Amino acid sequence: MDSLACLNGELMPVEEAKVPVWDRGFLFGDAIYEVFRLYRGSCWLEEPHLARLKRSLESLQIEQFDFGRLVERIQRTISASRIQEGTVYVHITRGVAPRAHAFPDPPVPPTELIIVRTYNDAATAKLRAQGVGVISQPDLRWKRCDIKSTNLLANVLALEAAKRKGCAEAVLVDAEGRVTEATHSSVVWVRDGWLQGTPDGTGILPGTTRGLILRLANEIGISFASATVTLPELIAADEVLLVGTTIEVLPVVKIDDTPIGNGQPGPVARRLQDAYRKAVEDWLAPEPV
Ligand SMILES: Cc1ncc(COP(=O)(O)O)c(C=O)c1O
Repeated sequence: MDSLACLNGELMPVEEAKVPVWDRGFLFGDAIYEVFRLYRGSCWLEEPHLARLKRSLESLQIEQFDFGRLVERIQRTISASRIQEGTVYVHITRGVAPRAHAFPDPPVPPTELIIVRTYNDAATAKLRAQGVGVISQPDLRWKRCDIKSTNLLANVLALEAAKRKGCAEAVLVDAEGRVTEATHSSVVWVRDGWLQGTPDGTGILPGTTRGLILRLANEIGISFASATVTLPELIAADEVLLVGTTIEVLPVVKIDDTPIGNGQPGPVARRLQDAYRKAVEDWLAPEPV
């Protein structure tokens, strides 16, 4: 089995999972999502992902949501799929009701979709070793990018522009000229010996991987500071890294045709990649008896 869905508690092949056209996720993008990585059948960074999911639900005022039941269903879907190396996609909408902008009154049950599927890391592993090129794009998203909402059109268009230029990602630049993040990953960089990243706020998604990377950096003696950079400043950085749930730690070696540093993955990227791998292996290692 390379995928399995759980729609409102019912396990089924993904192809059989269907939602009504009155679903508010379909009509309004009135929905949030989360993506977890499975290593050897276990959910990596489960807690921070669940915490972010909860925050997203609260931000959309999707209330009376049975969070414990969702967690149980996620575990049941993972077990039933028997998938070891994979991703878990969780998507929750405000539910099904005839089209009207205001929330349904009385509230309707949220639609809850879980999809577990295999993830083949081989292609990404190659990119991690070589580094990737990215382009810059204007950040056209709404003003609540801290919510992991399914409204991803600006992300989709920016990533497509990157793909057409043979690049792996698009780094987004806001109206004030500041780099925010990338279409589906966080951006961090190395300047003056510091690892730096955009301050948390409503302009970026608080990345779970970024949170881990800051902890790992601290453990291996690399200091982190929040900072804002313009695109020229980012291009002039010693190193630029993309971090995210499936890419892990991906060195950027070129932005808009300009090489970063010497155009090769840098030493901080390598150290963080090693630290990341070790963190996963340590977490997977059986408890000593
Ligand atoms: C816009 C955006 N920023 C950052 C990230 C990285 O978040 P995480 O590390 O939790 O995967 C994602 C992941 O999907 C994203 O969509």
